[in-house]
Amino acid sequence: MNSASKPNIELHVPPRDLSDRFAYSFVKLLRFFADLFFRKRYGHRAVVLETVAAVPGMVGGLLQHLKSLRHIQDDKGWIKTLLDEAENERMHLMTFVEISKPTPFERFLIMIVQAIFYNCFFFLYLLSPKTAHRVVGYFEEEAVISYTAYLQELDAGRHENVEAPQIAIDYWNLPKEARLRDVILAVREDEAGHRDVNHAFADELN
Ligand SMILES: [Fe+2]
Ligand SMILES: [Fe+2]
Repeated sequence: MNSASKPNIELHVPPRDLSDRFAYSFVKLLRFFADLFFRKRYGHRAVVLETVAAVPGMVGGLLQHLKSLRHIQDDKGWIKTLLDEAENERMHLMTFVEISKPTPFERFLIMIVQAIFYNCFFFLYLLSPKTAHRVVGYFEEEAVISYTAYLQELDAGRHENVEAPQIAIDYWNLPKEARLRDVILAVREDEAGHRDVNHAFADELN
């Protein structure tokens, strides 16, 4: 579980073509707005952004499922991987909402963002699954960076290292005395896994 010492936890796949550059610019633009809005409120940032992060896996899973039916062709395990990713991201949300409660304005924002993001991502995936997976790969690169920054806030004592919520202890099989830091390490490891899977899917769709 001690992934803080892993040298390659923050990894970046350089954009190689137009589709990658589009994905990267799109994610960097969203990052700019997220930084502007949340600044160092990492708990709130996690809650709001995990409501977005849990969408692509479900959309990708659905569209790969339909593709498998339509072409009567094996999915090479993609559907389950993507649906598992959506479920894992939803568990991140259920965990962080125990740590930070969204403000009424954030709850409003979550609804608006879901309405826009779900539709945009759905159409992006229909048009270019490769770009859609690259977008998720870059999202996850940013998620890893944000959770590292969250850890730094904890380590600097600017954020209380509270007890881990029970839901997190159960989900990641953490020891009973686990703290928020252990939870963030586990979540960051998940994000790095999604990053690698989605970049690999984008590569395969070349
Ligand atoms: Fe997540
Ligand atoms: Fe993620």
